[in-house]
Amino acid sequence: MNLKNDLILRAARGENIERYPVWLMRQAGRILPEYRAVRGALSGFKELVETPERAAEVTIQPVDLLGVDAAIIFSDILVVPEAMGLEYQMIEKKGPWFEKTIRSDAALKTLDFNFDIQDRLGYVMEAIEITKKELDGRVPLIGFAGAPWTIFCYMTEGQGSKTFSESRKILYTNPTLAHELLNYITDVTIQYLKAQILAGANMVQVFDSWAGILGKEQYAEFGLKYMDKIAAAISEVPVTLFSKGAYNSITNLAKMDCNTIGVDWNMRIDEIRDLVGENRTLQGNLDPCVLYASHDEVERLTNNMLDSFKSKRHIVNLGHGVYPDVDPEKVKTFIQTVKNYEISY
Ligand code: CP3
Repeated sequence: MNLKNDLILRAARGENIERYPVWLMRQAGRILPEYRAVRGALSGFKELVETPERAAEVTIQPVDLLGVDAAIIFSDILVVPEAMGLEYQMIEKKGPWFEKTIRSDAALKTLDFNFDIQDRLGYVMEAIEITKKELDGRVPLIGFAGAPWTIFCYMTEGQGSKTFSESRKILYTNPTLAHELLNYITDVTIQYLKAQILAGANMVQVFDSWAGILGKEQYAEFGLKYMDKIAAAISEVPVTLFSKGAYNSITNLAKMDCNTIGVDWNMRIDEIRDLVGENRTLQGNLDPCVLYASHDEVERLTNNMLDSFKSKRHIVNLGHGVYPDVDPEKVKTFIQTVKNYEISY
């Protein structure tokens, strides 16, 4: 299938682009009333994730309604632990909750890491196939997975947390268990991403949302080591690594075999460029709260960010997912500002 708009793929590979591509993390499921209407007709979030026709529909909504340069498949990073035997519930206004947690060797033995991906996660691949058909080449489709460290956090803590102290406790009390679980998650994640690519994903992103809660040495040992394995295993499509809060590890991240590095808003993108060099594309990094400001301010601050870029190797995004109560009109102003911007390189 020929893509009519392949800006994001060219930007990821460091090829020539006419303008910067733009999309938003969490663009599919958080801000659009049209999304809430589709979800409201079903029993909830999980049914939507597991119903390929509907998942494809909400995946395409931001392309039609916001004009983004890429779609990201509607799913969640937590489908992976669930496929291993750790079922989760998505509790309204609270977030994910696991009845069982993995904090001992005995608990680890109750999981299954040797399953057929298509068998347990086939609904994601089906959603990708339907989305690709319906997109009809308008924009590329991004596949994704959680990074092993972030998945480990949810599997051991059992829910969201500000500190993930139960997860981090294991790194000190039973590092062998931690590495065993991280290895299993890594193997499954590689197979899962390859299945998404086979189904039609044009690029993939690995989300390490909780990278920032570890010190540099621990993130190298329990986080980056496994990100590296994933990046090394995927060569079919461009790979984006997003380690949120990992400012201290950015030069190590840049050594990995990836195309793009996601950058959050704590980091100045021009300083990151100096650390990373010219051989990686940077993705980000507007503070998601900028979208609460006036339209004029959104435009001004977006242009400020664009002015700080020193080359074409950029994909424009927020520094983290768009917040649920942001006005879609502000998102449109952000996107339009990027589209109007003339690259001077
Ligand atoms: O970009 C998209 O909208 C595509 C789909 C997508 C979802 N989750 C759907 C979702 C993606 C890419 C994710 C990734 C994800 N999920 C991450 C990594 C990115 C990040 O934000 O750091 C994490 C940590 C999760 C785990 C998760 N899922 C949490 C903590 C929560 C609850 C709070 C929240 O973030 O909304 C979810 C729920 C979730 N995942 C929703 C959606 C649309 C909200 C459910 C609803 O519709 O009520």
